[in-house]
Amino acid sequence: MILDSLTPDSLTPDSLTTQNRKADHLRVCLEDDVQFHQTTTGLERYRFTHCCLPELDRREINLSTAFLGKPLGAPLLISSMTGGTELAKTINYRLAQAAQQYGLAMGVGSQRVAIENPQVTSTFAVRSVAPNILLFANLGAVQLNYRYGLDECLRVVEVLEADALILHLNPLQESVQTKGDTNFAGLLSKIAWLCEKLPVPVIAKEVGNGISAAMAQKLLEAGVRAIDVAGAGALRGQG
Ligand SMILES: Cc1cc2nc3c(=O)[nH]c(=O)nc-3n(C[C@H](O)[C@H](O)[C@H](O)COP(=O)(O)O)c2cc1C
Repeated sequence: MILDSLTPDSLTPDSLTTQNRKADHLRVCLEDDVQFHQTTTGLERYRFTHCCLPELDRREINLSTAFLGKPLGAPLLISSMTGGTELAKTINYRLAQAAQQYGLAMGVGSQRVAIENPQVTSTFAVRSVAPNILLFANLGAVQLNYRYGLDECLRVVEVLEADALILHLNPLQESVQTKGDTNFAGLLSKIAWLCEKLPVPVIAKEVGNGISAAMAQKLLEAGVRAIDVAGAGALRGQG
C-alpha cells in the first residue's frame, strides 16, 4: 500500500482505507496490466472515406461548443479519476491546467475521501488554476444509501466551485472491492430527489462498465442532465 505525505496521524481507519485505495488505483494503473485484452471500443470497425479535396481552410475549423451553459474549446471531458493523495493532487492540478489552456471540461475523482478527511480537500480544489473551465464534483451514488445526503453533495460542489455534480454508478466495483458499499436499493428515487434539490445539474456516469440505453432513459427521467456512459459496456446489453 502506498500512502504519501498527506497522511496525518489523526486519520480515522475509514479515511485511511479510502486514501490507501486511491493511492493503489494510481499504482495499479501505472504498474499492472490493466488493459482489456479482447474487449475493444469498437472504433476499429469504422473507416472514414478519405476526402482528397476538402474545399475548406483547415484553420477555419472550429471545434468549440457549449455544454450546460458554458463554452468549451472542444467537446471533450477529462473524466473523473483521482484525488486524496499528494500524487493525485499533482495529477488533478496538471489536468486542470491543461483543461484551462484548451477550454476542456474536467471532473475530479470521488470526493468521499475529502468528506471523511477534510484535510485532503486541497487535492481536489483545482479552481485556482482553472478559473474558467466547466468543472465537475464527484461522489458515488451509492453513498446516498450510506448517510450521505444534500449536505455532503452541496459541500463537494462548493469546495470545488463546481458547475455540476457527477454521481458515479459503480455496483460492480463496489461488489468486488474489499468492504465495498453494496446496498444499491432505492437509489433511483434518491437520485431524482437530489436532482430536484441540488442547485447545480446532476450528471450520471459509470466507472468503466457502461450504461445501457434502458438505464440511461431511467436516469434522464429521474432528472439527470447528462450521462457519461464510461466504458466498454457502453450502451450495450439490457441494463
Ligand atoms: C485510476 C482510476 C480512478 C478512477 N476513479 C474514479 C472516481 O473516483 N470517480 C469516477 O466517477 N470515476 C472514476 N474512474 C473512472 C473513469 O472516470 C472512467 O469512467 C473510466 O476510466 C472509463 O473510461 P472510458 O469510458 O474511457 O472507458 C476512475 C478510473 C481510473 C482508471
